[in-house]
Amino acid sequence: MENFYITTAIDYVNGAPHIGHAYEKIYTDILFRHFKKRKNDGSCFFLTGCDEHGIKIQKTAKAAGISPKELCDKNAAQFIEAWKLLDIEYSKFIRTTDDYHKKIVQDIFEKLLKQGDIYKHSYTGLYCAGCETFLNPKDLDENGNCPIHGKKPETVSEENYFFKLTKYKNRIIEHIKNNPDFILPEFRANEVLNQLENIEDISVSRAKSSVEWGIEVKSDKSQVIYVWIDALSNYITALGYDVDGNCDENFKKFWPANFHIIGKDILKFHSIYWIAILMALDIELPKSIYAHGWITIDQNKMSKSTGNVIAPKTIIDEYELKNPDALRYFMATTASNGKDGNYSDVDFKEKVNADLANNMGNLLNRTLNMLVKYFDGEIKEEFISDNELNKKAENVLNQVIEYFDKCDISSSANAIISLVDEANKYINDTAPWTLAKEEKMIECGKVLYNVLNLMVKIALMIEPYCPNIAKSMANQLKFDISLKYSKIQPNMIKSGKLISKEEISPVFLRLDSDFATNKKTV
Ligand code: ME8
Ligand code: MG
Repeated sequence: MENFYITTAIDYVNGAPHIGHAYEKIYTDILFRHFKKRKNDGSCFFLTGCDEHGIKIQKTAKAAGISPKELCDKNAAQFIEAWKLLDIEYSKFIRTTDDYHKKIVQDIFEKLLKQGDIYKHSYTGLYCAGCETFLNPKDLDENGNCPIHGKKPETVSEENYFFKLTKYKNRIIEHIKNNPDFILPEFRANEVLNQLENIEDISVSRAKSSVEWGIEVKSDKSQVIYVWIDALSNYITALGYDVDGNCDENFKKFWPANFHIIGKDILKFHSIYWIAILMALDIELPKSIYAHGWITIDQNKMSKSTGNVIAPKTIIDEYELKNPDALRYFMATTASNGKDGNYSDVDFKEKVNADLANNMGNLLNRTLNMLVKYFDGEIKEEFISDNELNKKAENVLNQVIEYFDKCDISSSANAIISLVDEANKYINDTAPWTLAKEEKMIECGKVLYNVLNLMVKIALMIEPYCPNIAKSMANQLKFDISLKYSKIQPNMIKSGKLISKEEISPVFLRLDSDFATNKKTV
């Protein structure tokens, strides 16, 4: 019996959640729901949360005239609310200010100190508060700014604790080279191997005189643990890791993680720093780290100073969406595997109208209506036979599974939608309305059956993306949406009365339809 464990990055709480954060949580939720459908036994665990320490949070709180903890409480609540709105089904939400987390992080630090992986060292470096890290002068852009945050790093001179990253360099290189699925998408692995060429030991603490808001070093009250050791450890503290080996059941059950899902900007921290820490602690390594791209708004980087930051709730409210499926679907498809993606109102509307309303929703709706019109909603035994769509569905399910193994959710969505295209083409080519006119009723019924039977499989495949739409499809097609993929058979719909006129309702309305603009809900 194999269990499954997936994590997101934990977000800094110095601001409110935006659709870039939402992208990653939706992404991970889709993976989680898919893998749950694939597993016939074992348990699944999905961890997300907030990263609450560091200079950025300390400064934001100060500017707002509140304590850092008050700021964290206020903003963490906003993240929790946003994920609820988006139907993110996480198993646990960790906050790095939680007491159990702080204690384990302190223990980890002491252990590494005792065994000599952490040592004290005087240091002058360039600190970027945006990254919460010291930058190498080589990493700066031509104006001497941080290439990610566009700001000049601060020169900091301190006596800090350092972690012997260089000691693990060769083992990490070897691990990456020997495990092609360790860093996904594969094209990112070279980037990491290049970064590994120039690594140095890293600072893992800050003097309290310059940063107060952090977890104290147990054996040296003048220092706080630098945010990355604190933040990265969340993946094991949440499961109840214990340095003395008295780990909780969850740790034994779920570690190592199957997937760490993170943004491309923090791949180095995960594929180098985190891996070295795990090696030092003698803990098994995660199986895969997937780095997604960045979401821009109208092709611009989202930033507070530009004033173009969009909260997920704004989109839900703007379109009066009764559930988050359209936004989830758009987010899942706007970027191709590991590349950047873009949000614009026009693209959003066009994409979900085309795929969810015109293509998938309409097909189900018109087919069910024909079944009612010609057969009073009944599937007759003679309608059920093997057909070309069954084979196609089987192929697409296999493709979907292969894409998900690589965390490529946009290619998978495209494969599902192209199956819907096929079904639309099939119904147009076979023209059941003409067959009915010609009184070829069995042929007509077969066509309707084949399409509806295919829609069961489509619903099961689209469920991780659009759980509410899929549920509504399942209600009309009379099957259980929680069905596992292993239970999919060629013919999913049995003979007998399937549906009556009153039970038919559109699963997704065009965002511009009269219905939507009249501000009604389905
Ligand atoms: O990096 N598009 O926190 P964070 C896509 N606390 N993803 C985006 C994004 C955008 N526009 N903006 C941010 C941190 N993200 C650390 C992580 S993990 C142990 C600690 C993603 O709030 C970003 O890539 O800056 C990261 O994966 C996550 O949101 C949190 O970013
Ligand atoms: Mg960031």
